[in-house]
Amino acid sequence: MITKNPYSPGVGTRPPYLAGREQQLRRFERLLADYPEKRRNLRITGLRGVGKTVLLKEYERIARHHGWVVLRRDWSVRLCEETDFAIAIADYLREAVDALSLKAKIRNQVTAAMQTVGQIQVQLTEGVTVSVGPGAVGPVKSVLEDRLRIALTRVGALARTQGRGVALLFDEAHSVYDRKHKRQYPLGALLSAIAAAQDDDDDPLPVMLVLCGLPPLTGNIHAARSNAERLFRGEEIGNLPLEPQPPEDLSAAAQALVRPAKDITYTQGVAERIARDVDGYPYFLQWFGEALWEAADLDGTTAITAELYERERAAIQRDLDEEFFEPRYRDTRQADQSTLRLAASLGGERFTRADLAATTKRSTGALAQSLSRLIADNLLYRDDHGIYAYTAPMFGDFMRRRHKRLGEDQ
Ligand SMILES: Nc1ncnc2c1ncn2[C@@H]1O[C@H](COP(=O)(O)OP(=O)(O)O)[C@@H](O)[C@H]1O
Ligand SMILES: [Mg+2]
Repeated sequence: MITKNPYSPGVGTRPPYLAGREQQLRRFERLLADYPEKRRNLRITGLRGVGKTVLLKEYERIARHHGWVVLRRDWSVRLCEETDFAIAIADYLREAVDALSLKAKIRNQVTAAMQTVGQIQVQLTEGVTVSVGPGAVGPVKSVLEDRLRIALTRVGALARTQGRGVALLFDEAHSVYDRKHKRQYPLGALLSAIAAAQDDDDDPLPVMLVLCGLPPLTGNIHAARSNAERLFRGEEIGNLPLEPQPPEDLSAAAQALVRPAKDITYTQGVAERIARDVDGYPYFLQWFGEALWEAADLDGTTAITAELYERERAAIQRDLDEEFFEPRYRDTRQADQSTLRLAASLGGERFTRADLAATTKRSTGALAQSLSRLIADNLLYRDDHGIYAYTAPMFGDFMRRRHKRLGEDQ
């Protein structure tokens, strides 16, 4: 009988078994249960391929199950412009109102909510979005923020009359940040509006914001609004644990391999071995699981043994490098490829600018520009302590494996 390969390497593709996220799911359930008396938002951060989108989709399912109206959308850098941001948010909220307006008797309320949503995007042209008071350091009053607050309050109130809540889930949320020099504050406007809408304890609104993205999201939130951190609960998502958690006798990472395989078994110790080799990285677990399942199937065997893994391992890694890492490297310009080779030659998965500068004769200016481009291309990010790291786990390893430092990398 032909059975299907259960594994699912991909972008946001639901894994056959969601391993090691029990705590995150429980905490989310708790967050929902606390509403509306306690109103908290959620910030999810982690590197590429660790399973943020998959988790966000799971949150969506859970919230819907509890009767919430849920919108899940990807943000992109285009939304850094307040006008585009306003249009997008107005669209999302319109959808939320639509989902809430099934009952005719609340038609007046629905119309009123729709009007406030429509107002969000009216005449938001450059320069009028934020008015800066004399001598003020930052924006004093944001038109966008005001309108967002009014609309969110209306939509929230509408949801409340139906005993429901509205959850706004934004993926790739690190793409939207404030830019002082351009006087564009989309993130700050949204955070302030949410804070204001959630503030009233006598009139608690069932509105929740979930922002999900690469690690710079945390810094963006911080820069957008002082004290914004307290609005959020943080979930830092990483690779799956490699240690078994009793009562389980397999680690979460190994379970991601073993549990989906109904017709194929892993010989004792092999799943843990693979899990360790890929450091519990979810994307790679799916990739190796799929490839080994395929190999066993071709062999006509029902066991993934140490020998099979040994035989296939190099080829699987090669394909993975080719499809996952290589395009990221190839798509950058030559000077930036050289920067990546220099950085990798330092060893490890993170580096400081000083260490990088010490390995090369290139000018600080050229180096800084190259690093900025690599950040803009989402290959690197800079953490709170000014340390540079790759957005994909094990990218440094890949570089050392495939792209050693060359003689001309000066
Ligand atoms: N908890 C998990 N257990 C098993 N596989 C997972 C888990 N989380 C994610 N994956 C798999 O990892 C890959 C990347 O997931 P994705 O959500 O797209 O990551 P991210 O959004 O962080 O880049 C997908 O193939 C997915 O099926
Ligand atoms: Mg994702």
